[in-house]
Amino acid sequence: MLGGIFDSSRLRRRWQLLILTILLSIILLLFFRHEGRPRELSDPVPLNQLGISPHNQGIGHRLVKPSGVKVIGLIFFGRKDRVQILQCFLERNLAVNGGWLDEIHWIRNTDIKADVDYLHKIVASNPAYRVIEIKETGFVGYGLAWTTLQPDAIYVKIDDDVVWLADDTIPRIVSTKLEHPEYLVVSANMINSPLMGWVHYHMSAIKPYLPEVINPEDVPPSLAPDKDARPPPPSRIPWRYSAHPQWTGPDDYLFSHDQETPAMRHRWLRLPTSQDDLVKQLHRTPISEAEYKTWGNSLQSWAIAAQQHYSFLENLCDNKLDLYQFSAGGLPWVTDYRRVSINLIAVNSTEILEHLPMDTVDEEWLTVSLPKRIQKSVAVDTHALAVHFSFGTQGSVATTDLLGRYLDYAQENACMADSPGSYWI
Ligand SMILES: *[C@@H]1O[C@H](CO)[C@@H](O)[C@H](O)[C@H]1NC(C)=O
Repeated sequence: MLGGIFDSSRLRRRWQLLILTILLSIILLLFFRHEGRPRELSDPVPLNQLGISPHNQGIGHRLVKPSGVKVIGLIFFGRKDRVQILQCFLERNLAVNGGWLDEIHWIRNTDIKADVDYLHKIVASNPAYRVIEIKETGFVGYGLAWTTLQPDAIYVKIDDDVVWLADDTIPRIVSTKLEHPEYLVVSANMINSPLMGWVHYHMSAIKPYLPEVINPEDVPPSLAPDKDARPPPPSRIPWRYSAHPQWTGPDDYLFSHDQETPAMRHRWLRLPTSQDDLVKQLHRTPISEAEYKTWGNSLQSWAIAAQQHYSFLENLCDNKLDLYQFSAGGLPWVTDYRRVSINLIAVNSTEILEHLPMDTVDEEWLTVSLPKRIQKSVAVDTHALAVHFSFGTQGSVATTDLLGRYLDYAQENACMADSPGSYWI
């Protein structure tokens, strides 16, 4: 009898504990749901899915945005066919969406009406966006843009044709800049940068790709418009290399870095390889001739650019982006007065403003003249990956289907809500 009373009160206490635990879990669940981003926005792709481990960079702390530091994105806006892709990545990086960019300032660097209209639509879509009007566009405009900086902020300058970045790219370059005042400029590790392309090739990150061999008579006229015409807006092309066939063609077919495009609108395909012939296959492709030189063929060659892009998309698909990361202890690659392209960089606006005006083009001033003068250096954070579509000298990259593939990746993985990129004027 006594034993029975003891048992039933213990049972009651267990029940109470169970109910309490369930209630507590429900409260916690509700709380965290409300803490999260608005539900109409899709969740960001987790870092591990982007192939970049947040744990291996060697910086002393987790990537948490420091309070009291204002981070402003500075976009040199020109072309809507590129910006519709970048825009998706930018939106994820806004502080209101859990990223590090408090504001984005769009420098209008074009007078083409359709592009300007598109810019105004983007800016109207979000209160964190603002247009900065400068008196002149083009190269003069690049210089003028730097006079519009607000003091004491970290600026992340982004070219309008950055078509891919990881969720941690901006946090990483900003963190590295904050922790390393000895670097005037911290750049992301860019795919298609004249210096870094050479490094990536020699680290075995670049794969053998060749343009598809097409009989000129088989190219439909719709795909071979006037070479000088503005290419039509890109449409989505499956971004995964595995969705496309492997390259086939004659064994003695080579493609040199300075060859013309085979046809308007074409694709590059993966050469089949085995361990035995990997080296031989790579030497049939343009990257094997790449130079580590600011003004060398990695800047001039559309073909070297294209091969880097197709290789990147393969590494992205295979979850092997760590192929691009290096430097023990997470220390950066220092370019030390060799001019490096500034497609995606972090700078401290105070350091820039106190040394203006620029006496040469911004890239030279930021990565060579000023750092030399004030005894600082320029660093590439090799763990902060991003993709730069093309330089002016590589215009023929637009004859490949690459923009369509980056658009496909962005729409599948990066765009949050309805992006203004989904409408064309
Ligand atoms: C920017 O540089 C100035 C001048 O060196 C320095 O006082 C300031 O702390 C820096 N700001 C940030 C956010 O690092």
